[in-house]
Amino acid sequence: MEGRLRLGVNIDHVATVRNARGTAFPDPVRAALIAEAAGADGITAHLREDRRHIGDRDIERLMEALTKPLNFEMAMTEEMQAIALRHRPHAVCIVPERREERTTEGGLNVAQDENRVADFIAPLREAGCRVSLFIGADPAQVDSAARIGAAVVEIHTGAFCDAHHENHPEARDTELARIRDAATLAHSLGLEVHAGHGITYETVAPIAAIPEMQELNIGHFLIGEAIMQGLAPAISEMRRRMDAAREAV
Ligand code: PXP
Repeated sequence: MEGRLRLGVNIDHVATVRNARGTAFPDPVRAALIAEAAGADGITAHLREDRRHIGDRDIERLMEALTKPLNFEMAMTEEMQAIALRHRPHAVCIVPERREERTTEGGLNVAQDENRVADFIAPLREAGCRVSLFIGADPAQVDSAARIGAAVVEIHTGAFCDAHHENHPEARDTELARIRDAATLAHSLGLEVHAGHGITYETVAPIAAIPEMQELNIGHFLIGEAIMQGLAPAISEMRRRMDAAREAV
């Protein structure tokens, strides 16, 4: 067992809600500081090419404000490489990105593009960033990641989580076994093993129980749950202010 399992909190969807109105709130940096205070071991933010949630200024502010490591999720583009080299976050997680996708749908094809990925990560490694590659639970991808000198692989848990929530127990078990096998292989090759995507209260336990796992990155479910658990106190506070204003008249 690899010691305490770290939790990276992805705050992208705080920015999604903010951007729906074009206001300054809810502020993802404030959410990141709350996450740190609540026990997150790191913060993850994905600066997408289309800036649909996190923006460039958010990354600057996160770099200034955080006391825990920032895991900067980025596509394999020159623009993102330049931004990462300017900020030098603790970690960069390279993800495939398609403009039309709703979220990161699959893992990087490192095996097919080994030389290109190796060239792309070289300056990031030299700049001192821990390079993580977001891959499917596939031994060929793990082998390639190790060969090109990545420090970390993050295993995509989306298919497992979807199979669980869509009630397909066989697919769920198959996907879980693939994640376990990929974690074992990655660890045996000296890679640090992370996992993420789609994780919920219902799906976290079997992933967290994988002995080689060192970090989980969780976003969408946590931000949704924060709305559900935080709505009642937010309404009470608004009620209190309304009533106080009336009493003061
Ligand atoms: N890890 C990576 C590499 C991701 O791209 C994402 C989604 O942005 C996550 C973890 C978090 O996934 P979710 O928001 O579904 O918890």
